[in-house]
Amino acid sequence: MNCRNCESPINQFMSFGKMPIANNFSITKNYTDYVFNLDPCYCEKCNLFQLYHQPEPKLLFHENYAFHADTSSGMMSHFYDLAKKIKKEFITKDDKVLEIGCNDGGVIEGLSAMGVSSYGMDPSKNVVDKCIEKGLKVDCDFFSVNTANKLLEKYGKFKIFVALNTFAHIPDLNSLLKGIDLILDENGIIILEDPYLLDVINKTSYDQIYDEHVFIFSLNSISNLFKKIGFKLFHAQHRETAGGTMRYFLSKKKINETKDLQHLLEIENNSNLNNVKTFEKFKNNCEKSRELLLNKLYNLKKDKKVVAGYGATSKSTTILNYCDIGPDLIQYITDTTITKINKFTPITAIPIYDHNFFLKNLPDTSLLFAWNHEKEIRDKEKKYINGGGNFFTHLIKDS
Ligand code: TYD
Repeated sequence: MNCRNCESPINQFMSFGKMPIANNFSITKNYTDYVFNLDPCYCEKCNLFQLYHQPEPKLLFHENYAFHADTSSGMMSHFYDLAKKIKKEFITKDDKVLEIGCNDGGVIEGLSAMGVSSYGMDPSKNVVDKCIEKGLKVDCDFFSVNTANKLLEKYGKFKIFVALNTFAHIPDLNSLLKGIDLILDENGIIILEDPYLLDVINKTSYDQIYDEHVFIFSLNSISNLFKKIGFKLFHAQHRETAGGTMRYFLSKKKINETKDLQHLLEIENNSNLNNVKTFEKFKNNCEKSRELLLNKLYNLKKDKKVVAGYGATSKSTTILNYCDIGPDLIQYITDTTITKINKFTPITAIPIYDHNFFLKNLPDTSLLFAWNHEKEIRDKEKKYINGGGNFFTHLIKDS
């Protein structure tokens, strides 16, 4: 396969092996659904990190989509802060905002409450229904050049295009870019936020690599990508949310690059991110992380300790399947999302219980799969920690 952006040959530097759909928590122990090879690749020409195979988006985003942003108060306040920034810095009177992948409310929930004309689009019916109940204007569809045309007919041009943790999910870059170009007015601003490649490399957070993340972007790859439709980066913000993300601001109109962007570009350009050796080292770090984690879990098993997983994240599917961890090593996973409770992790068949089960059966130790919400979880679980419980992760620093 060639690069999804520039069509140059891509370098497949490792394989995580066979994977189920990450969010496909099953009602039975036996998973008989779709599997694919999780093979990350890197394009040396345009710096785009991408998956070799990606399941059809319809298999991933549907009426039973398992992720609901309102399960995390941290995420909710993060969306609200961005809504305030958009209103303050970019909105004049009649400007309209479009958010794709708005999930159960996203940024448009805050913006609508502030009186800004805001519209959403998300392909998963269950989360769109929640938006509609909240009175938000949201269409249930995939964003593409076709749906952009329909939005244009319905609402006219938009000033702001927002996609948080969504852009990296869409494999058809050409249709996506054409759609954005079509829908934005000449002063249009694009705001994207996605897991940042340098964080994945630095923390060995290989669990960010799963079916939905068909791309993991960097400043250079985003910049190369948007050249196609004449948009330039003018600002970026690095955030610790979602395990380390970059927020990108792009415009067609000339806007001077901010100092923040220049500083972040300098860090990225000094990090060897564009060198294939970095990815060979990342592969070794993933193997090291797997070995350390398995040693720890087998020792805990030998000592007859109860180990729980905290958070049935999509990310956990990559860790569990890559390391081949089942219920003999992790007895259960706790999660607050109703649609995940009383199900099993796909293939690895670890039961998922609600938070009350965790509180009533405090485990000796917990593998923090939702490590991206560590602060929120540590604050919430003070009693567990003070009583001798602890959290650990699979993360290791690149060295
Ligand atoms: P998320 O951060 O979206 O990770 P991913 O994108 O990998 O799925 O999901 C966090 C999961 O953790 C979600 O299923 C809800 C759960 N969770 C808890 O169970 N308790 C908590 O306190 C928090 C913050 C999350």
